[in-house]
Amino acid sequence: MLTALPPPPPPLYPCLEHPAKSAGVPPRNGKAIRVSKPKKAVRKSPLRAAIAGVYGYVPPGVLTNAKLAQMVDTSDEWIVERTGIKERHILAGKGLGTSHMGAEAVRGLLAKTATAPGEVDLLICATTTPDFVFPSSANLICDMSGIRNIGSFDVQAACSGFVYALTVASQFIETGKYRKIVVVGADKMSAIIDYTDRATCVLFGDGAGAVLVEPSRKYGIIDTALRSDGAGMPYLHQKAGGSRMPPTAETVAKRLHYVHQEGAAVYKFAIARMADVATELMKRNRLTTKQIDWLVPHQANKRIIEATAERLKLPAERVMVTIHKYGNTTAATIPLCLWDYENKLKAGDRMLLAAFGGGFTWGGVYLTWAYDPR
Ligand code: ACO
Repeated sequence: MLTALPPPPPPLYPCLEHPAKSAGVPPRNGKAIRVSKPKKAVRKSPLRAAIAGVYGYVPPGVLTNAKLAQMVDTSDEWIVERTGIKERHILAGKGLGTSHMGAEAVRGLLAKTATAPGEVDLLICATTTPDFVFPSSANLICDMSGIRNIGSFDVQAACSGFVYALTVASQFIETGKYRKIVVVGADKMSAIIDYTDRATCVLFGDGAGAVLVEPSRKYGIIDTALRSDGAGMPYLHQKAGGSRMPPTAETVAKRLHYVHQEGAAVYKFAIARMADVATELMKRNRLTTKQIDWLVPHQANKRIIEATAERLKLPAERVMVTIHKYGNTTAATIPLCLWDYENKLKAGDRMLLAAFGGGFTWGGVYLTWAYDPR
């Protein structure tokens, strides 16, 4: 039997659209309705997808540079100088996967925004480290958060995953189809990192971030750009474990189930593409550097973040940086940045999200922040 959707709740924030307000007034007692002069059509601002709340989760276990230096031939000095990373969080515990962190973030988000699980219309999880090939981690996160009977799916675009998933969510909101969508970015990178390879093991960490996306006629996503280039695959990928090279004892022995990265090639690509996509969004929306309050870049390497900001001529105080404490958490970096900086953000702040990742994939979102610090 189909269950009817619950009636729309009152808006959480004054900016948000309340469908009941636009409903027509029915005639009373069958009396003739006085027809007033036709009013001039008032042009409504477009329905936008606004971020109405954010929450993050990083596991309690901390892997410092000092600890890594005991595992591989590296040093705190090298890691800080070449990447900006001081420590990262690692998920420990048997049977705990990406969905564990995603569900922690989602439960926190629902509690913080006073959203009942039954009010959520759709949940999208961006991840490169799903718990299983199937079912999706989105599916598991719903179950672990008490969210039932709605659509849920994963989006795989490596480190650009959150930007991709947020863009997908915005389409469902802009059409008026859904009112509350949860977008999660979560990755347990420690599951696919080779802790004998010093070139990659210092870079990544585990974590999750989630945002609640709601309709607004005042704030929200104004423009998006998604890009990819499959020719980038050799530079950043996991060789075995997929359908092309299913797991065997030999693939495991050859350590082919870990991230393979050609760092220098990825580095150059990352700077160029993050700056390109941000510039494209700025041009298309006639934005000057002065009008950007925040750049929210994917956190892969502090030098990549700084070089991107430099190309856009954005001063450091308007660039979100969390890489020193979380490392590269892949799809989680951008929501974790929003979570960390939330108290500094004001309604109306103009923000550029920019990400790149394996694939290659890259993308950006231009939005206005929807609420003041609470
Ligand atoms: N400690 C000490 N030395 C190291 C380490 C380490 N952890 N890692 C590499 N080195 C050595 C190398 O072996 C090399 O030594 P050699 O000159 O004797 O051969 C030397 O340091 C320089 O190596 P480079 O690779 O040239 O170092 P670089 O300055 O480029 O930094 C890094 C390497 C940090 C990986 C950088 O290339 C980078 O950040 N690349 C981009 C990473 C990235 O953004 N990945 C995206 C992930 S997104 C996703 O979708 C998953």
